[in-house]
Amino acid sequence: MKQSWRELVAGRHQATLDAGLWRTRKTLSSQQGVEAIIDGRPVINFSSNDYLGLACHESLGQSAERACRDFGVGSGASHLVCGHHQLHHQLELELAAFVGAERAILFSSGYMANLAMAATFLSKGDLLLQDKLNHASLIDSAKLSASNFKRYAHGDVEHAAKLASSIKFNHCMIATDGVFSMDGDIAPLRQLQSLASNHQALLLVDDAHGFGLLGATGQGALSHHGLKPAAEVLMMATLGKALGCYGAFVAGDALYIEHLTQFARPYIYTTALPPSVPASVLAALAVLAEEGDLLRTRLNDNIGYFKRAAVKHALTLRPSSTAIQVIVVGDSNQAMNISSALFNQGINLTAIRPPTVARGSARLRVALSAAHTFAQIDLLIELLAELLAELLSQQLKQDSAELSDCG
Ligand SMILES: Cc1ncc(COP(=O)(O)O)c(C=O)c1O
Repeated sequence: MKQSWRELVAGRHQATLDAGLWRTRKTLSSQQGVEAIIDGRPVINFSSNDYLGLACHESLGQSAERACRDFGVGSGASHLVCGHHQLHHQLELELAAFVGAERAILFSSGYMANLAMAATFLSKGDLLLQDKLNHASLIDSAKLSASNFKRYAHGDVEHAAKLASSIKFNHCMIATDGVFSMDGDIAPLRQLQSLASNHQALLLVDDAHGFGLLGATGQGALSHHGLKPAAEVLMMATLGKALGCYGAFVAGDALYIEHLTQFARPYIYTTALPPSVPASVLAALAVLAEEGDLLRTRLNDNIGYFKRAAVKHALTLRPSSTAIQVIVVGDSNQAMNISSALFNQGINLTAIRPPTVARGSARLRVALSAAHTFAQIDLLIELLAELLAELLSQQLKQDSAELSDCG
């Protein structure tokens, strides 16, 4: 007999629980700072993407407050109906100028911006090439277009080139994270750009974790590689991470940005961001202009300090020079156990498990902030070293017990 809806859903829950992949939410009852109250407990937070500590910056809050007072809390309509406010317009101009693009267009979130890209530009007969470790929103975007979707091995431009040369297509888009969200490494954008140019392809760079942080003044991963969102290169970046706000934008040549304005369904058929959001992002850009160098220097000092301390304590990190530093544990339950033990000792470090990362590669993803202190980093490293050493000794004991059982 066919399973009922209840049996089907409950069965899926049980299987997820059994695999150690059940997700739970912790509740924040303080500001989104490096010192936070989570589930009622004061903790040092190492999981927030608020890399520069701007989410609670006073001037961003004041700008949002002013915009709410002057223009209300809701935008009232989509951009193409009557929700496109002067503040959205001004922000698009400033973002485009900041990243060196002809134009920018705001989206309600990075997820929606990415969903828009493949569906708007690609159709049947086209090829979409993506890095295997791209963010879920880029992967999901492939499902919204009728294009031929292929993933190349992580960071492997040769593999991408092989696919591009061996598959027939009308038009091609290559999409990559700028900084990989669960690994922290930076994509080989120069090589990808020349591959794209050899195949007259569009290159889309999702710079959620590079914007505000990389490049001389924080323009992002493209700038880090001496590139910009121009010609056939498009950049997407979120405003909810280093900029501490919410929303996202796509920047590039005016032709392509106008195409999104005309045809991107996740842009057209949704309510515009409330005016307080562009107001706070404009304030964030002003803070970046004033204090960006200082904040990025503090963050880079913290990254260097963390990496040196990790080496001292023999912790193995994934190769990364960015604020995202990763320790792969492997087993989901073990990653969860370490995360809970840290939480009980006053540190919030969320375990990242499949399907966010590949099976067998559950990990602890440390997100460093300019606002962390060296003492906080020391505490994290010391606790992590203790917990990982304990895990290792348990594993060794188990292995030798299994060996003696076999003997
Ligand atoms: C690489 C990457 N792209 C896109 C997104 C989605 O952005 P948003 O949170 O604004 O939807 C995220 C994370 O949230 C991300 O890490």
